[in-house]
Amino acid sequence: MQKKLLYIFGLTVLVGFMSFTLQEDRWKAPEGAKALKNPISSADKAESAKRGAKIFKTRCMICHGTAGKGDGIGGKALTPKPQNLTSSMVQAQVDGELFWKVTNGRNDMIKWGPILTEDQRWDVVNYVRTLK
Ligand code: HEC
Repeated sequence: MQKKLLYIFGLTVLVGFMSFTLQEDRWKAPEGAKALKNPISSADKAESAKRGAKIFKTRCMICHGTAGKGDGIGGKALTPKPQNLTSSMVQAQVDGELFWKVTNGRNDMIKWGPILTEDQRWDVVNYVRTLK
């Protein structure tokens, strides 16, 4: 009887811990990032995304995969894995949040702020939008 109780207790703690770490793992941009305005007008979005596609090929594809599904060879051994950029979890975020994440990075996701210009980062965000 006591053994059984102990087992149930142990299991509860384990499940609680797992859901806690899973939650911890979700990467949330700070609230202020939502206010970052995409400076590219809708008329220029297609051209911007085209420039972004070129940047994606040379800078992002190695980890995020040819179609952005998070399955690039460079990401195979990483924890956490490169995100699937076509997923609704990523696409549900506003442009400012994606821009903020690209700019600041986390874990193995590179901090692109010092590497790509602001315009280039918006171009790549506009390209990521075409992946949904
Ligand atoms: C060295 C591998 C690597 C490269 C190169 C890379 N990424 Fe990532 N990226 C990651 C990893 C790993 C994560 C997940 C980080 C985490 O959750 O802590 C990530 C996460 C992201 C996210 C956040 C998804 C979310 O909402 O959680 C975006 C957006 C993103 N990458 C875009 C890009 C873009 C755009 C480029 C190219 C300019 C790029 N990445 C290049 C590894 C990479």
